[in-house]
Amino acid sequence: MATKILVIDDKQMMRDSVGGTLQRAGFQPIAAGDGESALALTARHQPAAVITDLKMPEMDGLELLSRLRQQDDQLPVVVMTAYGSVEAAVTAMKQGAFDFIQKPFEGDELVMTIRRAIEHRHLLKENEALKTSTDSTTQAPALVGRSPVMRTLASQIQQIALSSGTVLISGESGTGKEVVARTVHAHSPRRSRIMLSLNCAALSSNLLESELFGHEKGAFTGADSLRKGRFELADGGTLLLDEISEITPQLQAKLLRVLQERQFERVGSSLSMEIDVRVIATTNRDLEKCVQDDTFRQDLFYRLNVLPIHLPPLRQRVEDLPLLAEHFLTQLALREGREAKRFDPDAMKLIKQYPWPGNVRELQNICERASVLTKGQVITAPAIEPWLGTPATLGGGASAQLGLRRLEDLEREQILHTLEQFNGNRQRTAVSLGIGVRTLGLKLKKWKEQSLVPQAV
Ligand SMILES: Nc1ncnc2c1ncn2[C@@H]1O[C@H](COP(=O)(O)OP(=O)(O)OP(=O)(O)O)[C@@H](O)[C@H]1O
Ligand SMILES: [Mg+2]
Repeated sequence: MATKILVIDDKQMMRDSVGGTLQRAGFQPIAAGDGESALALTARHQPAAVITDLKMPEMDGLELLSRLRQQDDQLPVVVMTAYGSVEAAVTAMKQGAFDFIQKPFEGDELVMTIRRAIEHRHLLKENEALKTSTDSTTQAPALVGRSPVMRTLASQIQQIALSSGTVLISGESGTGKEVVARTVHAHSPRRSRIMLSLNCAALSSNLLESELFGHEKGAFTGADSLRKGRFELADGGTLLLDEISEITPQLQAKLLRVLQERQFERVGSSLSMEIDVRVIATTNRDLEKCVQDDTFRQDLFYRLNVLPIHLPPLRQRVEDLPLLAEHFLTQLALREGREAKRFDPDAMKLIKQYPWPGNVRELQNICERASVLTKGQVITAPAIEPWLGTPATLGGGASAQLGLRRLEDLEREQILHTLEQFNGNRQRTAVSLGIGVRTLGLKLKKWKEQSLVPQAV
């Protein structure tokens, strides 16, 4: 079904001409000759956007605009203004018009403006959907583990959840930083409000800035419409900033200001906004070291490190392995509506010996793979052995050998070996190891810098 656009003008010729252009562009125009019928048609047809003349005899465009906005404040209204009447256009924009277009205009210009209006509405709706969906699913995620560290962590989380202080969660990739962040939010007084997240490593600096703080329409090329940033959208709730070590010095300064003053401006705006957002940041790098290396601001580090949580790697909480494995197998079974499979004692022994460089995520991955590929109910050691490092590092008597070697060396060997198996395909290597492809990239980059791996990988 074509998207409906309401066209309002007291002149039949103008209605026909605008309507014709919109129709040729694939829209379904609905025409109204005055404000009253426009309001009635809006209620009946729920158009995606409205384009109206400003000067009309009975109800003028500005009055119509305000009545339309009372009916539906997200309905984008484009006003058509006479050539040279900039003032009228400015007034309309101040009163909430989405955009204006000056007569006489080209068909292309009209179609572009309408498309932008629709896109804008789409974004608003998406944001709303995002809010409701997160609201309704703010249940505490399962944080499995009964090892001493995990017990301490659980009570620490309860304490931390009660305050609004900034939390810094550190730990290797896949240790459960996000689960912990969600647990904090789910136990906090903000639990009925939104929790949003953003991966700071995934975006370029400019994009990240506008994702965080939003931008005004026209703030830069491509900024076709106003966009609210995550800080604004998460107001009253929690914002999770993943891989915080990756932000540029310029953004570090901006972030420092939000944390200090709870204020920020959208990109391209001088208007300060006050917000109440709890920030949780995660890092898999040692931020203190980043401060020493001058890549991370010390003042920002202190602002973030108000309530620190450190997640030890999985190899340091071996007691949790059986419980976690069982948890993942049960989850999978529930998802597929069948009985849960289990590891036999030899398989469990192997699991306990393996150093898990990809941490909990890697374990989850192995459980899933084993569960899918095992025909019976019991998963045996030979079934999982090929996925857990090379026999040379893990075979008989391997634990003694393991103790003498640095884990990072083992990890590097394992990664190189897997890369070779997949002919250098990083995506497949990362999936197979249960780590993110970016994490893999970062590791390789670091090792290349230290000349620990060939430059060609
Ligand atoms: N204690 C735990 N109990 C249950 N599931 C866990 C636990 N820890 C981690 N997981 C699961 O392991 C996977 C990885 O965890 P998560 O995404 O929180 O790790 P992360 O530390 O944020 O990793 P990265 O640094 O790569 O972003 C997720 O699917 C998560 O649900
Ligand atoms: Mg994470």
